[in-house]
Amino acid sequence: MTQSTESVSVSRGEEHMLGHGFYNRHSHEQAKANTYGLPLIVEAINRIDLGQIGGEFRIADYGSAQGQNSLLPMKTAVAQIKTLVAKSDRATIPISVTHTDLPTNDWSTLFQTVLFSPDSYLAGERDVFCFASGTSIYQQIFPPKHIAFGYSAITEHWLSRRPCNIPDEIWSARATGEVRSTWAAQAKADWHAFLQYRALEMQPSAQLLIIGSGADAQGNSGAEGLTDLANHILQQLVKDGTLYPKEYEEMAIPTYYRTAQEWKEPFMSDSNFPQGAALSLDDFQELALPDVYLEQFQLDGDAQLFAEAYTGFFKAAYEPCLFVNLSDKRTPESRQHVIDVFSQKLQVALAQDPKKYSCRWVLHLMLISKKEVEIA
Ligand SMILES: C[S@@+](CC[C@H](N)C(=O)[O-])C[C@H]1O[C@@H](n2cnc3c(N)ncnc32)[C@H](O)[C@@H]1O
Repeated sequence: MTQSTESVSVSRGEEHMLGHGFYNRHSHEQAKANTYGLPLIVEAINRIDLGQIGGEFRIADYGSAQGQNSLLPMKTAVAQIKTLVAKSDRATIPISVTHTDLPTNDWSTLFQTVLFSPDSYLAGERDVFCFASGTSIYQQIFPPKHIAFGYSAITEHWLSRRPCNIPDEIWSARATGEVRSTWAAQAKADWHAFLQYRALEMQPSAQLLIIGSGADAQGNSGAEGLTDLANHILQQLVKDGTLYPKEYEEMAIPTYYRTAQEWKEPFMSDSNFPQGAALSLDDFQELALPDVYLEQFQLDGDAQLFAEAYTGFFKAAYEPCLFVNLSDKRTPESRQHVIDVFSQKLQVALAQDPKKYSCRWVLHLMLISKKEVEIA
């Protein structure tokens, strides 16, 4: 396997989503993506054999961020588990949900959200419990045969590391030639590592549902208009001296958007993925995510509102990793200045042509089950 995991991680201290609840407030696109998984959550729960999972129904939410977008999926799962239990000979089953993310995640917002939001899956429930783990998805998080239902939305495109810089670009979908191959190899190694550990953690009859941010057959994520704009602004900042060339060179965002073929590869008979025999890809769907911010703009015609919303979305998801390598010699004020100038320029440009910069993210929905075979 190519280098895959946290020993070579992007950075131990690096957070991905912007903290202090900012991601929760600026992730409507991701929230929309989660809604496409709801019918598959019901299907997945129905496939789980209660006779094989012991006295507790354990759910893992891999890559929860600050929790807001997990509430509805987890509520849907809890409701369906109760329906399943009601049809069985069991009176009840305690349900635990463990949210996992990077150690640097904004965990206090996650707990505030899950424990106190009226929309939480905990609201009004007595037999449902929440936990959290800061162990990376590219490591084993739970003991073997522990999880009955795994859920993960918009997470596996975040790689364990930035495998190399991308000349003149920040977006892996824009990489070409050898650089592109290097990113593709890292994405393959990470997907294998992710599946390998999930296969270990899954109980017999367990189900794993992935709502993946992927790419079309040409390798485009659907957000290239926006990310090309961001790249152009960063290049302008280098030209006017706000950003040092060395800082720009290291700005590639550590995400990779897999094509349908790349997601499916470990499940193919000719794959060298050793745990392929333990997992089965039972459902695979591709769709283009509607742009909630553009839809709003088409209703109200407010380009400023569109630009503010999109700038918030971009900052929430990419600001921490984009600016993590600013020179150590900068003062905190100078760092903040670079970030602020970038955001202002982004917002001004977005307001000028909302349609041009709107995104149609490619989503891949995958329902994966544990096969009835022992793995080494
Ligand atoms: C775009 S957010 C998705 C959050 C949420 N599931 C949603 O649908 O809105 C991706 C999340 O994956 C997390 N993440 C990235 N790399 C990770 C890793 N190696 N291990 C665990 N979580 C990771 C990020 O910190 C972030 O919270």
